[in-house]
Amino acid sequence: MKGIVFTTFNDMVEQQIGIDVWDRILDSVKPESEGIYTSVEDFPDEELIAMVGELSTITGTPVLDLVRAFGQYLFHALAMRHPVFVEEKPDFIEFLKSIEDVIHKEVKKLYPNPNLPSLQWEQPEENRLIMFYRSPRKLCHLAEGLIKGAAEQYGVDYSFAHPICMHDGHDHCRFEIRVNE
Ligand code: HEM
Repeated sequence: MKGIVFTTFNDMVEQQIGIDVWDRILDSVKPESEGIYTSVEDFPDEELIAMVGELSTITGTPVLDLVRAFGQYLFHALAMRHPVFVEEKPDFIEFLKSIEDVIHKEVKKLYPNPNLPSLQWEQPEENRLIMFYRSPRKLCHLAEGLIKGAAEQYGVDYSFAHPICMHDGHDHCRFEIRVNE
């Protein structure tokens, strides 16, 4: 996982919970990196998973809720760093449709060898989008949070369902998104 994901996790913990908690996480997880991350370098996924697990123990918040909250926070960090992707898309659904073919395609030029999911889609109606998430990392709850962050960015109210999940043994996750009028 890219260092930008780690530096953003560090920022979230320090800003929303406290620098002492970040120090406790490092003391307990003892990452090889010693918590020193640069945005384009890669660091082991296990390191992030261990840190989220430790944050869950400290705060009593379930891991999946933390992953979702982190996705939401990460969206705003990525959008601030790369504002062009939001600027280019007029609305939330058009933005979501551009993740695979525009945004993550561009990410491959900006960050060397990123690990990215496949995010195909179908649009049954103007205000509805079905997304199909596939990734060996099964970070669908991170995707849920990222989508929530994007909805905040566009100021839309939406309904979300995740009726098929890789965590239940399926080969993909199905996200059903409906923008409420
Ligand atoms: C709603 C919008 C987005 C969704 C749902 C999304 C989804 C994801 C997910 C789920 C991952 C984790 C990797 C995996 O699942 O295998 C990921 C990684 C990543 N995404 Fe996106 N993404 C979104 C927007 C963006 C934007 C705006 C950027 C800005 C450049 C971006 C850049 C990245 C980067 C750098 C990684 C890390 C790659 C790595 O660690 O190697 N994404 N994305």
